[in-house]
Amino acid sequence: MTAMVASAAEQTLQTVAGALARARRVAVLTGAGMSADSGLPTYRGIGGLYNGIEIEAGMPIEDILHAYTLARDPALTWKYIAEIERACRGAGPNAGHAVLASWQAVRDIWVVTQNVDGFHRAAGSHQVIELHGNLSQLFCCACMAEYSIDVVDLTQLPPRCTACDGLVRPRVVLFGELLPPDAMAEYERELARGFDLLFVIGTSAMFPYIHGPVVEARARGCLTVEINPDVTVLSHAVDHRLAGGARDILQQLDRLLAAA
Ligand code: OAD
Repeated sequence: MTAMVASAAEQTLQTVAGALARARRVAVLTGAGMSADSGLPTYRGIGGLYNGIEIEAGMPIEDILHAYTLARDPALTWKYIAEIERACRGAGPNAGHAVLASWQAVRDIWVVTQNVDGFHRAAGSHQVIELHGNLSQLFCCACMAEYSIDVVDLTQLPPRCTACDGLVRPRVVLFGELLPPDAMAEYERELARGFDLLFVIGTSAMFPYIHGPVVEARARGCLTVEINPDVTVLSHAVDHRLAGGARDILQQLDRLLAAA
């Protein structure tokens, strides 16, 4: 029985590697699970940041990381932003990020990420759409002066603008805020151009702008593949599900691709 299950999984890997070898345009939609192998926490699931439900002041983390709370009590929102930033600072891209970057040499690959850690670009991916922004870029809410995370003093929260003393915040999407229009326009443009193959990796795919395009791409004839150790809302909506960690599965696919 175990041998049959293992061989079915192996066959799926072979099928996906074959499709990847033929694909010219590939979309890769990633979430927190992509960086879990770098040691970053996910938002939901085991060890997830949102598991505490009521974290502080009787507020769930979705309320703490909300635009309204940033305006009313910036030190509280910043306390949790700084925690995510600390985790990112001590980490970097893993071998899974590197595999995705290496695949772009001979195909048109678009990485669409909900992650704010910047690891896809750091690993060398060029066509990266950051739907939720990037934690290393900050700006002053009053005078719009731009800052890099390296020069902002995070020992005093919230950080203040050195020019006008306004509130400094990261260029990330908080709850209650719109997605960055440029990133969304780029995402919609590339989706409209179509893909041969679409991977959805390490995301619970809760948001309609993630699960919607996967379902639509499949309906248009694109092969859709999920990489995730757990079942998600998309698991039964994709052509193939590769159950496992992103780094391991991507490395296995890469080995099969080299042999194809
Ligand atoms: P979630 O925390 O919702 O989901 C993480 C997913 O990664 C889960 O489906 C896990 O099963 C999976 N996972 C865990 N370890 C993995 C591994 N080693 N390899 C592959 N997958 C693994 O994170 P996201 O879907 O990214 O937004 O969450 C989306 C958004 O919700 C975040 O960007 C954030 C959050 O609210 C904002 O802050 C605006």
